[in-house]
Amino acid sequence: MTSVVIHNTQFTGKFLIHEESMTSTNAYANQWISKTNPTDGTVILADFQTAGRGQHNNSWEALSGENLTCSIIYKPDFLQASDQYTLNMAVALGVRQTVQEFLPDSEVRVKWPNDIMVGNGKVAGVLIENTLHGRKLKNTIIGIGLNINQTDFEGLPHAVSLKLESGQSFDRLEVLNVLCLQVESQYLRLRHGQAAGIVANYNEYLFGKNEEVLCMMSGTEQTIIPSHVSADGRIAVRHQGEMKSFLHGEFTWLI
Ligand code: BTN
Repeated sequence: MTSVVIHNTQFTGKFLIHEESMTSTNAYANQWISKTNPTDGTVILADFQTAGRGQHNNSWEALSGENLTCSIIYKPDFLQASDQYTLNMAVALGVRQTVQEFLPDSEVRVKWPNDIMVGNGKVAGVLIENTLHGRKLKNTIIGIGLNINQTDFEGLPHAVSLKLESGQSFDRLEVLNVLCLQVESQYLRLRHGQAAGIVANYNEYLFGKNEEVLCMMSGTEQTIIPSHVSADGRIAVRHQGEMKSFLHGEFTWLI
């Protein structure tokens, strides 16, 4: 990527920091927030991360220059801390829509809480880190890893990329432009008080909905049938003939 310019958005990516290599764009964003008063919609972009971070203290591995690894800083001061899960949903929908635009013939779904799936393969992951001011959100760092042109994912049997799925290579800058636009448009829905619509759309695309899916729960392999996710981030599933709801971390997917 040479000179990176984001078109078509209102504010996302209008201020952008791009470096060839960083430890982690989320870590950079954290430092940026502690040193400056960042512009809403600042994007931090790295061609390569030496210590990319995933959920649950996992690492995020991506070959240099083949994928998107970036973080968006927003200031969602209109959201109560208790509503922060709707922000996760809005972001997941924006990333999902981006992937769908480049893979129009594929089924692209959101695996709770915010993995983006093409079939049974994970094409993108999201790591959101919020800072609070009282009961409200102050800053949020939305870290997004989206696999674009990488075709070899050693040790990651469930990973896919846009190229693996379609056989085509994509321009990372073009994908970044669509990503900024789509994430911003879902974020604006939230800002305009349309959280209920976001929750409904998220559930439309819920991975495994009404299907039997394997997971690990209390140390054993179990079958669940996901039903829906509510605005507080809990997933409702049918398990052993009963409806139950779970918080993030109370079971792990086996897909
Ligand atoms: C997951 O585990 O699914 C979340 C992965 C998030 C990876 C992205 S890559 C850009 C940003 N910087 C990081 O260190 N992590 C996120």
